[in-house]
Amino acid sequence: MSDLTIRPRADEHMQGCVQALAGVHAEDRYPVNWPADPESWLTPRSMLDAWVAVEGPAVLGHLVLTRPGEALAAEVGLPAQRLVSVARFFVRVDARRRGVAAMLLDKAITAAAADGLRPVLQVEAGATAAIRLYERAGWRCVGSSTADWTTADGRAARMRSYVAPSRTNPDETSRGKRV
Ligand SMILES: CC(C)(COP(=O)(O)OP(=O)(O)OC[C@H]1O[C@@H](n2cnc3c(N)ncnc32)[C@H](O)[C@@H]1OP(=O)(O)O)[C@@H](O)C(=O)NCCC(=O)NCCS
Repeated sequence: MSDLTIRPRADEHMQGCVQALAGVHAEDRYPVNWPADPESWLTPRSMLDAWVAVEGPAVLGHLVLTRPGEALAAEVGLPAQRLVSVARFFVRVDARRRGVAAMLLDKAITAAAADGLRPVLQVEAGATAAIRLYERAGWRCVGSSTADWTTADGRAARMRSYVAPSRTNPDETSRGKRV
């Protein structure tokens, strides 16, 4: 039986996160350029929360929630204070198609809803696995824009913006408040 669980990221997970990221970078060019300091890349300044998917001592996946920028909030059409942004999201290459990413996303939505917040994200249009994952999980594409960086195959990155399906805030269920 699998002991796959989603946990808050701790210092003890960082080495496994960086190892997993190295494999994802080699396979998917995510991120496009290998960061000089991967631990810092995994910990953006605007980070609010970070989770890992673990199985025993192994880190299988990673996701952080950050404060979204004003441009993304404008695209979604909601105030930035009511949103959180999914970032640094990946699953180890040898742990794919086991529902790890879906579990991490579900955790992000539930945790955000508990704070009355709605998750949003941006994904490069060529990331077909991620786009299928989001659309299958009910995320809605609300716009697209051209970014200021170039993909591994030399295209100007085209970003699609998504908003998570609404989820009832567990503290507000008696009033049925949905975010
Ligand atoms: C996108 C990513 C996180 C998916 O991780 P995963 O753990 O394999 O995804 P899951 O097993 O939870 O997939 C859930 C559903 O998403 C869809 N999906 C996931 N990967 C897919 C793929 N390669 N092709 C088609 N559909 C896919 C499927 O509908 C899948 O359900 P199914 O397996 O029952 O058909 C992983 O491929 C990854 O790390 N990619 C590189 C980094 C990246 O693109 N991150 C997103 C940045 S915005």
